[in-house]
Amino acid sequence: MERTFVMVKPDGVQRQLVGEVIKTFERRGLQIVGLKMIRITPELAARHYAEHQNKPFFQGLVNFITSGPVVALVLEGRNCISLVREMMGATDPARAAAGTIRGSYGIDIGRNVVHGSDSPASAAREIRLFFREEELFNYALSLAPWIYE
Ligand code: RTP
Ligand code: MG
Repeated sequence: MERTFVMVKPDGVQRQLVGEVIKTFERRGLQIVGLKMIRITPELAARHYAEHQNKPFFQGLVNFITSGPVVALVLEGRNCISLVREMMGATDPARAAAGTIRGSYGIDIGRNVVHGSDSPASAAREIRLFFREEELFNYALSLAPWIYE
């Protein structure tokens, strides 16, 4: 089993898509093991998006991600890091495949509704950045045999 960090960004919260996004992942069979609403500080935003600090869109990205509350999630499931990325669709919603989250709910690359870790290293780093150990839960999903053979 693998864990990944997912976030409903401020645009998703403002557009009342929190339930839709969470439902999409739950219906797939992914398990919620961490969940909270937070307002990201500029310091946390800079750490989270450190890989982009020299890009022209960095300041706009930080301004956006700190502009309102977000919903942070840790999801667990088999190969869930790449599974979640596929379900979110391409970074630019205008290019995201129909049926993906971004391809269903977005149009602009700067308003793409969700974030998901892009690798096992990113997932480990981002989960640690947003959640304390005691905020994550280990519990058996009773319907697991109906999701995994
Ligand atoms: P994210 O980290 O937010 O899940 O998105 P991602 O992996 O699909 O894309 P990434 O390359 O990490 O970019 C982070 C966020 O920066 C904004 N962006 N704007 N104007 C641009 O060219 C541009 N490129 C990226 C997007 O909002 C993207 O989600
Ligand atoms: Mg990224």
